[in-house]
Amino acid sequence: MIKYILNTENYTKENLVKLLQANLQERELIFEKSSSIKEEHIANKVYLRALIEFSNHCEKDCLYCGIRKSNSSPKRYTIPQEEIYKTIDIAIAKGYSSIVIQAGECKEPEFIEAIDNALIYAKDQSGGKLGITLSLGEQEKSTYKRWFDLGGHRYLLRIESSNKQLFETIHPRNENHSFETRLQKLKELKEIGYQVGTGVMIGLPNQTLEDLAGDLLFMKEFDIDMCGMGPYIVSPDTPLAKLAHKIPSEESRVDLSLKMIALLRLLMKDINIASTTALQTLTDRAREEGIKVGANIIMPNLTAVDFKDSYKLYNKKTDLKSHDDTLSAIEEQMTRVGHKVEIGNWGDSIHFQRKTTN
Ligand code: 5AD
Repeated sequence: MIKYILNTENYTKENLVKLLQANLQERELIFEKSSSIKEEHIANKVYLRALIEFSNHCEKDCLYCGIRKSNSSPKRYTIPQEEIYKTIDIAIAKGYSSIVIQAGECKEPEFIEAIDNALIYAKDQSGGKLGITLSLGEQEKSTYKRWFDLGGHRYLLRIESSNKQLFETIHPRNENHSFETRLQKLKELKEIGYQVGTGVMIGLPNQTLEDLAGDLLFMKEFDIDMCGMGPYIVSPDTPLAKLAHKIPSEESRVDLSLKMIALLRLLMKDINIASTTALQTLTDRAREEGIKVGANIIMPNLTAVDFKDSYKLYNKKTDLKSHDDTLSAIEEQMTRVGHKVEIGNWGDSIHFQRKTTN
């Protein structure tokens, strides 16, 4: 059955569910196909995005997230301007060709201005060479436009779950957490001209395989350029942690995450897909596995240690040691799985390039 679906490439929701159910032996067939599609369409190359976790202040109260507004555990920080500049300098000096600026959601004018300044600095310091991805939540369209004009060209905004009902069980039911707004914001980002990335959490309480299959079809339908998705990891001191008994085992969440990456590669042959930190957090080497089965982006964390410890979206059991994230360590890991790390190349979504030149 698995073979038949893969041969006919008939990726209906029903068939995607069957592929998600594949056992350890059967899943190898999926992985073989997704790896060869990747090699054929975008080559065995890995692009890096140095991640800067700019601030953990957040106006949102997502029920799963460790930096949600109501959680009093994390020490709140915003990296001072000078420190941000220093981190950008480090990214450039280390040879990263792209950075990701990520933060909790904040719409204060000071925050928006701080991002303006970081964009201006990054572009100036690198002579326009540094690629910039933003991951700063839902903002006014005018803010998205302003950051785009200043040089941000990719934006990550996860839908978290494309099933409205499930979305609503993992967010508070109020105006500040609306499924429709999230969709609207994704549309606005696209209209402005960003390469748009989205993604979901995998293994949420009450999430079904149909939901995950629906997520894959949603991403195809929305015609995304990039994706970052990974396992849900229980974050203590969050409301969703009470449902921890309802989620699949760590092993199953990793299995499902790898299958989701592989299946998305089957559906969208030339987009950028990240092998996420959450994946690595659950199983050592899972990041390499993610690359092997279809992902092509890694986001090494460049946030200074003093701040990194407070940016806990979930319980990082095996917090990445900083040396693991050096370029040479990543190059070594990637060579082990037959991939080459591309330095000095933005590695923009080929899917996006094709769309915009056609
Ligand atoms: N487990 C896994 N991923 C999480 N995120 C937030 N909290 C968790 C968690 N407990 C993810 C969300 C968000 C991204 C920045 O981090 O998908 O969009």
